[in-house]
Amino acid sequence: MKDYMKKFRLDEKVAVVTGGLGLIGREISISLAQAGAKVLVLDIEIAKGEKFEKECKKEKLDVKFFRFDVTDIKALDNTISQLFNVEGPIFVWVNTAYPRTKDWGLDLGKVKSETWQNNVDMHMNSYCLMTKTIAELMKKSKIGGSIINFGSIYGVVAPDFEIYKGTGMNNEGTYAAIKGGIINFSRFAASYYGKYCIRVNCICPGGVFDNQNEEFLKNYEMKTPLKRMANPDEIASATLFLASDASSYMTGTTLMVDGGWTCI
Ligand SMILES: NC(=O)c1ccc[n+]([C@@H]2O[C@H](COP(=O)([O-])OP(=O)(O)OC[C@H]3O[C@@H](n4cnc5c(N)ncnc54)[C@H](O)[C@@H]3O)[C@@H](O)[C@H]2O)c1
Repeated sequence: MKDYMKKFRLDEKVAVVTGGLGLIGREISISLAQAGAKVLVLDIEIAKGEKFEKECKKEKLDVKFFRFDVTDIKALDNTISQLFNVEGPIFVWVNTAYPRTKDWGLDLGKVKSETWQNNVDMHMNSYCLMTKTIAELMKKSKIGGSIINFGSIYGVVAPDFEIYKGTGMNNEGTYAAIKGGIINFSRFAASYYGKYCIRVNCICPGGVFDNQNEEFLKNYEMKTPLKRMANPDEIASATLFLASDASSYMTGTTLMVDGGWTCI
């Protein structure tokens, strides 16, 4: 009989999580480490990163923090190669970093072209270029691999602006362009790198609970078949599935983890 639980294990594998200290990234880092991987957490928050590394060590999880800025596009090739050679070979790469400009969240009509370009560069272009760079290294070392990029429900459908009324919250148009681009580039990369046993998939979470205001929660829950927002661990377990051999015949997929938001 097949040992199905073993398929979810990542023993002796090296996994990277960009934005690995965030709401979602932190739980992903923990889940991959619990599955046996050595996890490299790449983020810009140094103090938070050192604290997280210590917390994980106490739990006997193999987690190492590195200060790494995904928006430093020109340095990506070198830094990723160095990381691959020193800490790798890297088998799993998860992009969950969420870089954005200080004026993020404006109404579409108010977004300046320069801000638009910066956000596309920092978020969409960094995800796509990191995918290319790590896939090339995986290809060269002939180890295969699993790359997971974070999209969103808003890379697949448009927002219903009614849910933001009276909440002080907003949904920025640039996000739709960024996430749509990440989702389709992931398909391209899946097709391009498939013959090297490199899988590229996207996870599209619905809204994750983060103490949002009451009015927003009420509006959001009403529109969701499961009648609640996601918890970060629910996104992490889907990521573990895509990272591991449990999903060995899946590539180019867009996995919706959205409580049913996009099914209606
Ligand atoms: N939270 C949600 O409701 C939700 C829903 C759908 C999709 N997503 C997507 O999931 C991913 C993670 O979102 P989140 O809610 O965990 O975000 P978050 O803001 O909680 O965490 C993002 C992390 O990225 C790090 N980061 C920011 N700029 C960086 C940079 N330049 N280089 C490296 N790291 C950087 C931050 O320090 C932070 O730790 C994002 O792609 C986001 O678009 C989130």
